[in-house]
Amino acid sequence: AKVDEIRNRAQFIARSCKEVREVYGQSENGLYYLTTSTGVVYQTFCDMTTAGGGWTLVASVHEDNIYGKCTVGDRWTSQQGNNANWPQGEGNWANRKTFGTVEAATDDDFKNPGYYDIVAEDMSVWHVPNNTPVNHWKLAAIMRYHTDRRFLHLYGGNLYSLFHRYPVEYNVGAHLSDNGPSIPIVYDLGDKESTKMFYGPYSGAEIEGGFISFRAINYERAATAICSGVKPKGGNAETYCIGGGGFFPEGNPLQCGDFTAFAWNGYGTHVGWSASKQMLESAVLLFYR
Ligand code: G3P
Ligand code: CA
Ligand code: CA
Repeated sequence: AKVDEIRNRAQFIARSCKEVREVYGQSENGLYYLTTSTGVVYQTFCDMTTAGGGWTLVASVHEDNIYGKCTVGDRWTSQQGNNANWPQGEGNWANRKTFGTVEAATDDDFKNPGYYDIVAEDMSVWHVPNNTPVNHWKLAAIMRYHTDRRFLHLYGGNLYSLFHRYPVEYNVGAHLSDNGPSIPIVYDLGDKESTKMFYGPYSGAEIEGGFISFRAINYERAATAICSGVKPKGGNAETYCIGGGGFFPEGNPLQCGDFTAFAWNGYGTHVGWSASKQMLESAVLLFYR
């Protein structure tokens, strides 16, 4: 039966999970084949049930070792150290490089061609504990939310375009005044208060729950990529925003890495600026629709 199912799914030709749902009437969560505009075929996970379904998993941000400061595995910041001469770091927020596999999206970083190929309107984000198998992601998630204002229209239809307009690069501007957009979210699991509880108590004092924010800059002009579930109201973005460029000046190199300074006051302590262990040990899954 599984083989029949796979054979069936291999016949669909679609650019996104939204198209798989709309054109082929598929409504089950799981892995589907997609194709890019140039004909590259890849497989990814489709969430066909949240808020009408049709969500395509395009990336995951995973912290394999918070003690490694911009070392191997920090694909969403820098794998070549913390260095002012490497201001964009890996540059993966705004390039066509792909890595990882869908089944390992909670075990390591993941980025597929949908990240730059799909022209989308909204985003959905799941925080899923590391090493969770695909079929359990939705139930195991500690937070899930989506946007519903079609904000991606304003930024080119995907993160690839958005981050071309808001480069994730050291020294491109000042905290708050040059930050990218903050978009209100609708919670599918969690709420504004539970979101704040995942970040450190000091961080909690400078964030507002109920948003997803892009290219937040910190006090030292380091750029982060995504503040999941929150909007910054201060400049310690490195304690609640993930990803970034290749240089974080404060405490060099302690704030450089995919989960930046989430363990500034100890690993998973939830003291001072440190995020909770649950947050630290969950991958951030990014979907488009
Ligand atoms: O990023 C957090 C850092 O700026 C806090 O500094 O002196 O309270 O450890 P401090
Ligand atoms: Ca990583
Ligand atoms: Ca700081």
